[in-house]
Amino acid sequence: MAKSKKIVVTGARGFIAKHLRNYLSENNIDLISISRNDFKQFKNESMIVSENYDENILLPKIKDSDALIHLVGIGNQSVNNDYNMINVELTKHIVNLCKKTKIKKIVYTSGLGVSSNTSLGYFISKYNAEKIIINSGLNFTIFRPSYIVGKDDHFTKYLKKQIKTGEIKIPGSGNYSIQPIYIDDVIQIISQSAIQPKFKNRIIDLVGPKNITFKQYVKLFSKGTKTNIKKIDLEDAYRDAITNPKSDFGIDDLNILIGDFRGNHEKLRKLTKMKFHSIVELLESGRLL
Ligand SMILES: NC(=O)c1ccc[n+]([C@@H]2O[C@H](COP(=O)([O-])OP(=O)(O)OC[C@H]3O[C@@H](n4cnc5c(N)ncnc54)[C@H](OP(=O)(O)O)[C@@H]3O)[C@@H](O)[C@H]2O)c1
Repeated sequence: MAKSKKIVVTGARGFIAKHLRNYLSENNIDLISISRNDFKQFKNESMIVSENYDENILLPKIKDSDALIHLVGIGNQSVNNDYNMINVELTKHIVNLCKKTKIKKIVYTSGLGVSSNTSLGYFISKYNAEKIIINSGLNFTIFRPSYIVGKDDHFTKYLKKQIKTGEIKIPGSGNYSIQPIYIDDVIQIISQSAIQPKFKNRIIDLVGPKNITFKQYVKLFSKGTKTNIKKIDLEDAYRDAITNPKSDFGIDDLNILIGDFRGNHEKLRKLTKMKFHSIVELLESGRLL
């Protein structure tokens, strides 16, 4: 009988990780999930709680695993948690753990828009994390996702919160586009990539079938609700992001949103041979609300 696969997931309590763990558990994959804090276990899942991803705790538990899916990441900085510490240095630590435990495969979610030409701090940290992984000698798959949407991602939760106030604010013109992809498609792809050889040593845009302007997206999202859509001055949005730690959009949220980043969906479709959910249909059916 074939040996069942053993997969490690970091950042277990995050949005993608929760969906992925549920999916892997349902598909009878042996799962080892790591988080800084306690969390609810799925079946077939072992739990590791370690605030600093302590090597002494992790090494004996994750050794002999087939793959590690690294989902730790931050998109906002603070004095205690900056991009270099979490996106770069922690990735380096995880890569070293893979080498020490002879885990041969690593899957990483970077970001759409990451490139060697980027000047944005967030993207630079993701680029540096990519480089560490590429140069590690491990079999890697790096995904560069656009907005991954479901019912409970940060972006969708933000829009739902705005609907409750009766008004959604659009920074600037709203004519910049996004290329959202559905979480159920994403977890299937990430799961495949941890196991299938065709994903070996590839950097892949994780983007949906269609570009849609933020203005159109918000309109469809709030269809059927009594929500006023209001454009706000971009300068005001940035000032709020800079001066108000509780602002809905962080500086890099705005940079990414208005950056108008586009990815190659066709390449993803050909590689995965999957039929993707249409985000427009999901929005029209109200399934994201
Ligand atoms: N969702 C998207 O649309 C999207 C798009 C592009 C890229 N990505 C990337 O995909 C990855 C996962 O995204 P997500 O949406 O699932 O993010 P998320 O919900 O914010 O989860 C990220 C997880 O990272 C861990 N983490 C955060 N700060 C940490 C710290 N200081 N030390 C150790 N662990 C820390 C946390 O896990 P625990 O609480 O379990 O410790 C957190 O739940 C991230 O790298 C993100 O940049 C996501």
